Amino acid sequence: MKLPTIIEAEKLITGAEQRNPGAWLGHSKTAAYCARAIAEQCDNLNADTAYILGLLHDIGRREDITDMRHIIDGYQFMKSLNYDNCAHICLTHSFPYKDIRSYNGQNDCTAEETEFITSFLDNIEYDDYDRLIQLCDALALPNGATYIEKRLVDVVIRRGFNDLTIPKWKAFLELKDYFDKKTGTDIYKLIGV
Ligand SMILES: [Fe+2]
Repeated sequence: MKLPTIIEAEKLITGAEQRNPGAWLGHSKTAAYCARAIAEQCDNLNADTAYILGLLHDIGRREDITDMRHIIDGYQFMKSLNYDNCAHICLTHSFPYKDIRSYNGQNDCTAEETEFITSFLDNIEYDDYDRLIQLCDALALPNGATYIEKRLVDVVIRRGFNDLTIPKWKAFLELKDYFDKKTGTDIYKLIGV
């Protein structure tokens, strides 16, 4: 795995906080906490890896207040540090439903970047780290973990919806079922909701 250590990842978040403070930092810390708590109950996942991937999934927001751009900014920043696994998660975390048009918000990427993201998604199979961070993104409010439905409504109120919102919501609910089965429990119990 090409990943920073936990200490390095936390330093990256502290640096990002100085560049572009905002609610996204609390959200990232909650996502990291949820990822660790769920991964600890999965035989094929490492809890520290899950924590680091969760903490850095939105690191692209260090650049500016942006919409879909944050995923490409995060990908490029992590690639520049050779943290390829983090870069991968920066691109996949927003697409539990593998269609770029399902993004909640504006596509503020260039046509070339949009094509790159589309082709990246078309050419990979998601693994359980992709699935876990997609799920945790939907469990993480800035002030703590919550029910998926609450977070999804929060996102739609802030960013709007489109005709792929419902299939995307179904994809999130399927992820919860997937990890409920994988952990043998209700993941809400693991994250203290
Ligand atoms: Fe996020």
